[in-house]
Amino acid sequence: MSVRRLHSEQPESFEFSSENLDWAKHVITRYPQGRQASAVIPLLMRAQEQEGWVTQPAIEYVADMLDMPYIRVLEVATFYTQFQLQPVGKKAHIQVCGTTPCMLRGAEDLIRVCKNKIAQKPLSLSEDGNFSWEEVECAGTCVNAPMIQIFKDTYEDLTPEILEELIAKIDAGEEIIPGTQQKDRINGAAAQGQTTLTDPSLYDGSMVKYGLGAGIDEPKVAPVGAVLDAEIAPETKAKTKTKTKSVAKEVAAEAKPAPAIKPDQLKVGEPAPALLAEPIDGKADNLKEISGIGPVIERKLNAMGVYHFSQIASWDAENCAYVDGQLAFKGRIGRENWVEQAKAKASETFDTKSGEDK
Ligand code: FES
Repeated sequence: MSVRRLHSEQPESFEFSSENLDWAKHVITRYPQGRQASAVIPLLMRAQEQEGWVTQPAIEYVADMLDMPYIRVLEVATFYTQFQLQPVGKKAHIQVCGTTPCMLRGAEDLIRVCKNKIAQKPLSLSEDGNFSWEEVECAGTCVNAPMIQIFKDTYEDLTPEILEELIAKIDAGEEIIPGTQQKDRINGAAAQGQTTLTDPSLYDGSMVKYGLGAGIDEPKVAPVGAVLDAEIAPETKAKTKTKTKSVAKEVAAEAKPAPAIKPDQLKVGEPAPALLAEPIDGKADNLKEISGIGPVIERKLNAMGVYHFSQIASWDAENCAYVDGQLAFKGRIGRENWVEQAKAKASETFDTKSGEDK
């Protein structure tokens, strides 16, 4: 990248047009008192848009407006290659990224096009004054290398032929569309086509319909404590919390190898599995230990009332189909063999003889 200095020839003065002045005053009000210097970049950019490049008088004018030392604004203007410090092409100033990914993907060929079509030297005007070019550092679209930037827009996935075409179109006053120039590519997605997140249900809203009021009722399950409360006689209930806990433990013991918890709210014939309002003893199993269940799916299962390996271990084909349908898993429960995995996990964590956790 070339050294960035102020141009040797400078105009006498600079001032914003009345329209730009109103805009600049408004922009300055966006920042808290004493922090007006934060408006330096937008103001310099507007000055560049007005004049075509950033002149020394413009730098001083902006510094005065923001009550900043001239050197501070000069530092900003010379640091960012978005600011042109010399007159540039009226129709386009082409900034070719020459950093490693773009260089490896053909930036040097693009520079050759600029030299042939515009001017041999960077930062020189073409004969008609309509174009100029320079090499710059990474502009942040490396995944679509090689690329160029023209004023505020980037043009990516270029070949020498495409760049020549773009230059011809700009010269002819035709519209050019920013972004990737490869017809089959979608923005920065994989050039050979989508390879991940290919399930259409990710995008049609069906993945989040459960429990979000999209017309599918959440299974109504009473909290475990509430079910137990109803079962325990008042005098027993009055004894202690410990007693309630021990009843919960019994239920847990029954539930673990083959859950016996069948919330009576489930409709007869509904193939929903046994669901819980909360984990037994307040401690859910780490369902992520089942291959295929990640944090997102675990949250969905918990929201549905599935907290324990033993619950999943007890699912029959209908239960699996029910959960699959509710959470739009498209058969992954069977494909990933959750039930067998859960059975193995449940036996690891539960001693069927003692009825206690291992
Ligand atoms: S290397 Fe060229 S855009 Fe990043």
